[in-house]
Formats: sequence, structure tokens, C-alpha cells
Amino acid sequence: MSADPLLDRLVAAVGASQVLTDPDLTAPYETDWTRRYHGTPRAVVRPGDTEEVSAVMAACAAAGAPVVPQGGNTGLVGGSVPRGGEVVLSLTRLDELEPVDTVSAQVTAGAGVSVARLQSHAQAADLLYGVDFAARDTATLGGTIATNAGGIRMIRYGGTRQQVVGVEAVLADGRVLRRLSGLVKDNVGYDLPGLLVGSEGTLAVVTRARVRLHPRQSHRVVALLGLEDLPAALAVLARLRGAVGGLEAVEVVLADGVALVADHLGVAPPFSPIPPVVLLVESAGRRDPTDELAAVLAEAPELREVAVATDRAGREALWRWREAHTETINVLGVPHKLDVTLPLSALPDFAAALPAIVERVAPGARTIVFGHLGDGNLHVNVVGPDPDDGRVDDAVLQLVAAHEGSISAEHGIGTAKVAHVPLGRDDADRAVMRAVKQAFDPAGIMNPGVLFA
Ligand code: MLT
Ligand code: ZN
Repeated sequence: MSADPLLDRLVAAVGASQVLTDPDLTAPYETDWTRRYHGTPRAVVRPGDTEEVSAVMAACAAAGAPVVPQGGNTGLVGGSVPRGGEVVLSLTRLDELEPVDTVSAQVTAGAGVSVARLQSHAQAADLLYGVDFAARDTATLGGTIATNAGGIRMIRYGGTRQQVVGVEAVLADGRVLRRLSGLVKDNVGYDLPGLLVGSEGTLAVVTRARVRLHPRQSHRVVALLGLEDLPAALAVLARLRGAVGGLEAVEVVLADGVALVADHLGVAPPFSPIPPVVLLVESAGRRDPTDELAAVLAEAPELREVAVATDRAGREALWRWREAHTETINVLGVPHKLDVTLPLSALPDFAAALPAIVERVAPGARTIVFGHLGDGNLHVNVVGPDPDDGRVDDAVLQLVAAHEGSISAEHGIGTAKVAHVPLGRDDADRAVMRAVKQAFDPAGIMNPGVLFA
């Protein structure tokens, strides 16, 4: 018996070894990837299957105890770490992978399966999972469903919402919602799985999901393109969209970011001097897509520099210039990460206005911008202001709203952007979202403080 009756019920549900209260053991679950958001939990609970998740939720509901669901803890908006005193529900032990159904091109996987494992599993069946990003080895399927993760291949396959054909989820009171049939035509009422995608753990706990797979592409080419400015990058994007059938990624980085990555990795930059804007383009197909891409690039007067790779090592080396941005920025300090979408037509104006806006509220701060150009999704990273100082966040998000963009593209609202939700959703919209929250979680124990104030 412990002094906390809830802990006794949790131990009865999952076993003593899976209820962590020792600060040395709970520490890895307390701080998110940015290090900006952290808190101390009442306990960390690690159920091993859906029935155990159900028992944990029933116990927490009976005790009125708030719960923070957590996947691989690669989140960037403080949405999956405790604020103080919640039960952290870690789903990483739900790592069962069913055999791939090659006839329907679908697979059912546990919430704790990493994105990389899901990708390898699909690949072994000559298929492909369409969502990919740098944190693939640690990020989990459940976490990507909770945040509706986008990633680097969204222009071809869509985001996580487009992959999910069904979910199993444990409701706030412990009941289990099951929609895993994989039927692609199934119009019996509301699309509850679709509603859970992007709900950030505020409605229910996703325990398993059935996802769509795509044909595996056996040939790939990656090109790094040096350009003068963002309007030139958009002109190249238009050419690529119009003529390259297998376009999988169009990512953008800027000269100062590339220079930082070169320093961090201790390697020479890909071009010297580094052009102001660098695009990373990937095309893939069942046949070699190199000639098709080369033909489009040959006709593009905007290009200043080009580097191309078709072999795996060469492609990965080019991708490092883009993917190493996150870790490189984290070395500079605790970043204010502002993940936003702009209409492509407004993106150059937004980027041009950004430095002065940041300088006004955070003099001397360092701003590094990169992102998924094909989706209009920029990651604005500001290093310098105190982690608790929200002025730069506010200034950048106001600038986004003034350009008719979205204040949250793919990382979610978490606790980081709760105050800014009205910049993206009007009164009627927020009222319906609150009613949905109330229907799923009348006692308000599911990830309180996330999405809603
Ligand atoms: C990325 O695109 O690399 C991720 O969204 C992570 C980040 O924004 O740092
Ligand atoms: Zn991203």
C-alpha cells in the first residue's frame, strides 16, 4: 500500500514495475525535445496492452486524476509532458505490429510502434508508409496521430490524417472505441477516427491504428538547388509540380542555417558561397526519375547551383543539410519554435518582414528559418529570449495571422500556443471544439491545458 490510493490502483492495473515515481526514472518523461516545456508528474504509467490502458484510465477517471498521454516524447509544443501533478501515460510498450495486408495495402500497428519500424515493416512487404521526418526512430505512430504529423513527404502522400483508416482508442472513462475494420467505404455516422487525428490527447488515448500504405518506390534522386531568393524558389516549385510526377519532397533551408549545420557537423558547406536559399528536392518512382528531374532543372533559369545524388549514401548526405537543422539549433540554446503555414503567395513577404518583427521584441535574438516549402510550412526558430518570455512567439504568430496563414502547421497547439488559438479559429469554431471535448471528456482529465486554456 502506498500513501496515494491511485498509485495502488495503477499498480494493480499494470504491475509495480510499470508505475514509476522515482525521479531518476521519471526524468526522461518530464521534458520535451525543445527543453522549453517540463513538469513533474504524479507518476509515469507504462501499460503493455489496450486492456491495461483501459484499467489505467478507469482508475484515473475514478480519482479525477488528469492524464497526459505520451508517445516517443519528440513533441515540440509542450503537449505530451506534464505541467505538474498529472499521470503521464506512456504508450511506448504498445509496440505490436500485425502482418501487412498486401491486398488492401494496410497494416494495423500499436500506438507505440516507431515511425521508422512501421516504415521498415511496410518496406519488407514492398510497400511504403507515407509519413516520414527526422525523428522517425523515436516518434511513435500514436504520437503522430495525436499531432497529425506532416513531415517531409506530405506533398505526395498527405499527412497522417490521410493515412489513418481506423483507430482503437481508450476513452476517458476506460471504455474502448474500436474502428479497425479497414473498410475504406464505411459511412455509419461521424468519422470518430478522423476526429482523434490531431486531437493531441485531449479526447481519448489512441492505442492502435490501421494505416494505408503506398507502392514502394525503388528508385530515388535527391537534388540540392541553390537559389537567389524565395520568389525564385517558388518559381522552381511551380516547374517541379507541373512536370515531375514522382515529386516526394520540396524542402527549404536558408544560407545562415546551412552555415550553422556545416559548423555543427564539422563539414564543408555544399556550395561556396552558400546561396541565400537552398531547396532540397526528392523524386521517386518505380523507374529511375533522374532524367525527368534533370530535364526540368535544365530549363530553370533561377538555378545558381545544383548537387545531385542517386545512391543511398549520397542522398542521405544531401538530406543532412536539411534534417540536421533541428539538432543544430538545439545546441545554440532553448529555441522558441514557431511552426506555421503561409499561403505560398504570401511566404516571401512574411519571410522578409520576420527579422524586423523579431528584432523589435527580442533584440539580438537569432532566427533560423527552414521548412517544407511544398506545403507552405515554415519552421521559425528563435534562440535568445528566455524560455518563459512569450513576446517573440506572439509577434511571429500575429505576423502569420496578418498574412492569412495558420499558427500551427504540423507540431500542434500543445500548451505552447493555447493563447493564440483565436488567431486561427473564430468563436463558433472554438465553441464546437469545446462541445466535442465535453462529449469525449466531461470531467476534463484528458491532457488538460492542451488546446484549451
Ligand atoms: C522538421 O521538419 O524537421 C520537424 O518539424 C522538426 C522541427 O521543426 O525542428
Ligand atoms: Zn517539420
